[in-house]
Amino acid sequence: MRSLTFRRPDDWHVHFRDSVMMKTVVPYTARAFGRAIVMPNLTPPVTTAAMAQAYRARIMACVPDGVSFQPLMVCYLTDHTDPADLVAGFKAGIFTAAKLYPAHATTNSAHGVTSVDTIMPVLEAMAEHGIPLLTHGEVTRADVDIFDREARFAEEVLGPLLARLPGLRVVMEHITTQEGASLVRAHRDRMGATITPQHLLYNRNALFQGGLRPHMYCLPVLKRERHRQALRQAATGGESCFFLGTDTAPHMRHLKEADCGCAGVFSAPVAVAAYLQVFAEEGKLEAFEAFASLNGPAFYGLPANEERVTYEERPARIAQEIEVDGAGRLVSLFSGEAAPWSLAG
Ligand code: NCD
Ligand code: ZN
Ligand code: ZN
Repeated sequence: MRSLTFRRPDDWHVHFRDSVMMKTVVPYTARAFGRAIVMPNLTPPVTTAAMAQAYRARIMACVPDGVSFQPLMVCYLTDHTDPADLVAGFKAGIFTAAKLYPAHATTNSAHGVTSVDTIMPVLEAMAEHGIPLLTHGEVTRADVDIFDREARFAEEVLGPLLARLPGLRVVMEHITTQEGASLVRAHRDRMGATITPQHLLYNRNALFQGGLRPHMYCLPVLKRERHRQALRQAATGGESCFFLGTDTAPHMRHLKEADCGCAGVFSAPVAVAAYLQVFAEEGKLEAFEAFASLNGPAFYGLPANEERVTYEERPARIAQEIEVDGAGRLVSLFSGEAAPWSLAG
């Protein structure tokens, strides 16, 4: 049985939600990861340092006893973000980064930014103070095909923004395309990208495997096989600009299996195992620690975790569903199947 020991990993893109949902999902991430970048797309969104501080406290109350875990908070940018509050929150250690959701691009993005030009003073302040900009990188115009929205964002929005603000540091979140990976590489001195397990494991055929598969639906949507191959090369190739970010995005089962189903894959219970499967298939287990535990902290200017964890190639059965305190049930990645790797001990 193969095993792998590496520094405790971090997850640079998670959705914890709030209240009972948060109580259910936080322990999965907290047990597997040392830190996580927590997305601010709540209703209402986390738009001020005071809201982020309160949200962080609510998350910490859900961390199981004896588990060491640090949530890193993110400011949800709107057309009305106050640069002074963002900068003060960053300097006070409350905010680690700020998130650009193009308005209506994804779950709870109605309050997002209508155009990058509108928030130029905020972006200038971020460049000046070294506050990373995290992006949901898709254009939202109805006339752009959904499979082209990321490539168009890279070309039409991010490329020009990087040229306009040479000091701005940017993470392209959950990249799904060759074009996304290429833009990040071209600006590797100040750019990073997170890559999810589902975009490494599946191509768009998985959405229609024997019928419509709502639990495979997330945004950006799964792409063609050639893009999946490009992402696998990016993740496992040892390049420091690519790092682990699951985009674990829980929605209740009945809201995904619906007439207008929610976007998001809930991967927290199996995330490390899913990534390990990819690295094992590629014959690149030796590159796993860089992707999972070193590249992310280096981008954010944080120390790598000191603690080591060991995973074994020992299959573990994954529950069909996870109950959320009377409010509904969650279906995770690999639900009803076996996860190929498990935490040792
Ligand atoms: C995320 C969510 O549910 O909050 N959904 C998703 O499909 N990825 C939002 C996001 O990360 O875009
Ligand atoms: Zn997103
Ligand atoms: Zn997300």
